[in-house]
Amino acid sequence: MQFHLKFGDPLKFSCQALIVGCFEDDLSEPLFKRVDHSLGGYLESLYRQHEFSGKQNKTRIIPTLGKLSAERIVVVGLGKKKELSTERIRQAAGTAIQAMRDTRIKSCASLLHLLEKGSRSLQGTVEGMILGGYAFQQYKSKKEDYGGIEDVAMFFPAGAKKDGLDKALIEARTLCEAVLFARDMVSHPGNVATPAFLAEKAVEMSARYGIACQVLEREEMERNSMEALLAVARGSRQPPRFIILEYLAAGEKVRPTVLVGKGITFDSGGISLKPREGMEKMKDDMAGGAAVIGTVMAAAALKLPVNLIGLVPAAENLPGGGAYKPGDVIKSMSGQTIEIVNTDAEGRMILCDALHYAQRYKPAALIDMATLTGACVVALGSFASGMMGNDEGVKRAIREAAQESGERVWELPLWEDYGELMKSDIADMKNAGGPEAGTISAAWFLKNFVGKSRWVHLDIAGTAWMDKDRPYMPKGATGIGVRLLIEYLKGVARG
Ligand code: BES
Ligand code: ZN
Ligand code: ZN
Repeated sequence: MQFHLKFGDPLKFSCQALIVGCFEDDLSEPLFKRVDHSLGGYLESLYRQHEFSGKQNKTRIIPTLGKLSAERIVVVGLGKKKELSTERIRQAAGTAIQAMRDTRIKSCASLLHLLEKGSRSLQGTVEGMILGGYAFQQYKSKKEDYGGIEDVAMFFPAGAKKDGLDKALIEARTLCEAVLFARDMVSHPGNVATPAFLAEKAVEMSARYGIACQVLEREEMERNSMEALLAVARGSRQPPRFIILEYLAAGEKVRPTVLVGKGITFDSGGISLKPREGMEKMKDDMAGGAAVIGTVMAAAALKLPVNLIGLVPAAENLPGGGAYKPGDVIKSMSGQTIEIVNTDAEGRMILCDALHYAQRYKPAALIDMATLTGACVVALGSFASGMMGNDEGVKRAIREAAQESGERVWELPLWEDYGELMKSDIADMKNAGGPEAGTISAAWFLKNFVGKSRWVHLDIAGTAWMDKDRPYMPKGATGIGVRLLIEYLKGVARG
């Protein structure tokens, strides 16, 4: 998808479609009015006849029959005027792109980026379009002949400052590239996206951006006593990897932000085997790891002045002959012992060693992302990631970044009382509680391994994969976390 910044009157521009937004409660928005005027008031009459409501993310494609230079108008609902936000614009842009897919339109012009002042709606529009137009087709032997929208013209008033707009456009595209990179990794099937594959992707990416990348293999993990991670990996013939990315751009004195991402490339549950229904979806269990690699990529590509470490413990959870078993007691890298009661609670096992490893960086903040619990999907669905942590400041900053990026988070409590659920008779703790408060007991487990770090855990089990199209998240991998964490890191960079 190519974006072309243009200056002048968009209504005089010849293209296949012109995208215009429409509020549900106000038809006086100037851009809408101008388009409607050219069509002799047709849009307003459709609205009056309840053929189009302006409700959020409703669309209608209308041929212009020569009354405008564009062949069609794509009207997108923006919802209530008072509720307009960058996120609404992002969604409208994504919705428009998906609507045009059916009509096989290749070139369009957008008016959505003019709805808010400044460059934010430009970025929102670009993000919505690139992310909404994503399709993963690497495993189809017949390529689709329609490759989606190729050209998007974005008009600005003559005399607008081009440099600032160019910069905003490049920034948005760069960020989206990292999101799509993460989505691709998650979309690949488990037989391809193994721990070694993830490590390879991280190495390739780091070479491209001049970032330091180190990959620990089994022997080094053994030397580091990462027994919790190794315990999970032993059930599979795929050897584990521990990926370490270091992007340092803020000077030696600045303590880094450390990101940790769950990299289970397939989660069968292990000996505590999952039910067969829907098990194929468990290839997305490395979405946290993909988000971490994608975030480091975006930070480097955007040249954010931050110190950033990305850690991805990667393994496959299978019930092979060497697999860890219920009843086993594992001594984690931190020295704390864990009684295994459910081998399907493997994410926290690989994360606990990574979180302990993270301590050597003396993190300014430690943030982990993981498709950790089915309970989180029950609690929040696919509309928000679960957030828990031990530091109000980091949680607040994440909440603000969530608001800005549209990647919503919702906090669950992490009271010490929940530790009750994880008590073991034989070891320091169990790796799983009962059916109650599954998302919280998982976070409580992780908390034991973060030392004194200011730490936030994000459970993305419900947000990493969409079963249905969303405006800028087509069905499938979402790349969740990259935009959220970059927004957070921008805040870190501002100080
Ligand atoms: N990867 C799963 C969590 C998951 C479930 C993500 C559904 C997305 C959709 C995780 O490893 C897991 O199996 N968790 C268990 C924990 C339980 C055994 C304490 C779960 O949620 O059932
Ligand atoms: Zn599991
Ligand atoms: Zn898992």
